[in-house]
Amino acid sequence: MNDFLELCKNRRSVRSFDGKLPDSNILDELKSFASKIANPYGVKVRFVFLDAKEHDLSSPVLSGDRYYVTAVVDKVEHSDEAFGYSFEKLLMHAHELGLGTVWIGGTMPRDKFEKASDLADGEIMPCVSPLGITAGKMSVKEILMRKGVKADSRLPFDKLFFTGDFSTPLTEDRAKELGIYKALEAVRLAPSAVNKQPWRVIADDHKAVFYVKHDKGFSTPSYDLQVIDLGIAMYHFEAQMATEGVTPLLTRYDHHPQAPSGMDYIATYSY
Ligand SMILES: Cc1cc2nc3c(=O)[nH]c(=O)nc-3n(C[C@H](O)[C@H](O)[C@H](O)COP(=O)(O)O)c2cc1C
Repeated sequence: MNDFLELCKNRRSVRSFDGKLPDSNILDELKSFASKIANPYGVKVRFVFLDAKEHDLSSPVLSGDRYYVTAVVDKVEHSDEAFGYSFEKLLMHAHELGLGTVWIGGTMPRDKFEKASDLADGEIMPCVSPLGITAGKMSVKEILMRKGVKADSRLPFDKLFFTGDFSTPLTEDRAKELGIYKALEAVRLAPSAVNKQPWRVIADDHKAVFYVKHDKGFSTPSYDLQVIDLGIAMYHFEAQMATEGVTPLLTRYDHHPQAPSGMDYIATYSY
């Protein structure tokens, strides 16, 4: 794999496509990759590859969209984190193969996508993504959408990452000493619903504790888009550490600083 952080730096959500089906060899490679994706929760995520014309699929924020992938998971404990982790692993590989993608969790006719994904009892399909070649020019609606959510900016390092407890920001220099600077940068640059960046991390020697900072309006009875965002962040953390030859181990219910109001503990990585 290329340096994962470099892949993060040159990724963006793509909402304007060339109107053509993706190359069949690339799709075959992506489908084969998808069949092997696992996540640290051991929860299976099923991917469904769909021709947009055949299934009459579209999204009001996209143009030139011709092909989709949806992701389906059983509604079980930690299905949100598992979903975010596994789907992001697939979408980052699609990006590596030259395809444009964008997480879509809201702006779609959900019933059509669910029908095309053939949901079984107990299964949910929180998000989908188009797959295709990025158009030469962004559509006006894409430009406006990016402006609306300030898609090109991220919160600074010291507003997201801490050491000891939430009252001490983690400096970039200290993160470098801890050997997790690039992995946390990969988290910082990750996509998130409405670009809210709900991930917070307390990092100390060989330990990184992940929390979600909740905003209103992201949770449904079946899934929470911001916990899905945390699954995405965890994948980014692990993938960058893997690039550097380190395999962090994910645990739950380890000793960790208490989450302040509005935040929840997600998981701890030891590395
Ligand atoms: C879980 C999730 C759900 C999202 N849902 C939508 C959506 O419904 N419509 C949309 O246009 N973008 C959606 N996005 C894309 C975000 O708006 C985008 O990632 C964010 O603005 C940052 O921009 P970037 O991905 O170009 O860095 C979603 C992203 C995530 C992670």
